[in-house]
Amino acid sequence: MQEVFLCNSGCEANEAAIKIARMYGNQRGIDTPTIIVMEKAFHGRTLATLSATGNRKVQAGFEPLVKGFVRVPYNDLDAIRQVARHTPNNVAVLVEPIQGEGGIRMPDANYLHNLRKICDAHEWLLMLDEVQCGLGRTGKWFAFQHTDILPDVMTLAKGLGSGVPVGACLAAGKAAGVFKPGNHGSTFGGNPLASTAALTTLNIIVQDNLLDHAGKLGEWIKHQLQTRLGGVKGVVAIRGQGLMLGIELDKNCAEIVGKTLDKGLLINVTADNVIRLLPSLIFSQTEAQQMLDILCPLVVEFLAQE
Ligand SMILES: Cc1ncc(COP(=O)(O)O)c(C=O)c1O
Repeated sequence: MQEVFLCNSGCEANEAAIKIARMYGNQRGIDTPTIIVMEKAFHGRTLATLSATGNRKVQAGFEPLVKGFVRVPYNDLDAIRQVARHTPNNVAVLVEPIQGEGGIRMPDANYLHNLRKICDAHEWLLMLDEVQCGLGRTGKWFAFQHTDILPDVMTLAKGLGSGVPVGACLAAGKAAGVFKPGNHGSTFGGNPLASTAALTTLNIIVQDNLLDHAGKLGEWIKHQLQTRLGGVKGVVAIRGQGLMLGIELDKNCAEIVGKTLDKGLLINVTADNVIRLLPSLIFSQTEAQQMLDILCPLVVEFLAQE
């Protein structure tokens, strides 16, 4: 990437990405540029990012939403081609390589590769929201590195500062140079504390070989989940990559969060029926075993209830 804009959060980084896309469109003479976004996407809670988010619950009560987004189903290339045919003012696609809040939804094989090709054919920016899946979580620095593509814009946050609030919007190729000084900024963006936390985090990821660790431990956990829960009635799917895993059940399972918490395990349920596991990159195999020993019996018990 050629440019890095340091931000305070993931939503600010995505806000910056949306601004880059609009400015890119405006600079090409398109007065009302649109950006393709996905159903079940999550991009944040500022006005533009909640408008880009594909979840009515996040948007409700904040109307009027920010205009300029065209929504299509995730993993549906034909829907993208339709937009290309009918929306000449479209300028970008904003997508999570793996949908997090949407329920740990994986891209189909070649989805991102073909999305890149469509973007190139129409001179659209391909903007990847790696706020949740980036920075080692999937076993590579960025989730897109499991494919052969490069994005024009990428956003990061969450793991970047190991808990210290910091985000980043990175731009390359035709997206670089779109922002001029003053087009984006905030009082605390890129402050010394946050920048030091981010730099230290990146160094520790390298020193402690955490990419490899996240990839291998994640595969092991997924295999264990498949062995212990794969055949259980009511388990719809076990999916994910590295330490970004989801267990989809056939019913709403929000109540499992309280049950695991009572046993000292903090998990999260997203999209109503997907148990989401996003442990820290320094999670050990012993801790993973403890997690499995608490979680798996509770899932079996929960699904056995009428
Ligand atoms: C994919 C994705 N994008 C953006 C955000 C928003 O980040 P933040 O909460 O730092 O504003 C999130 C938060 O969950 C996210 O998962």
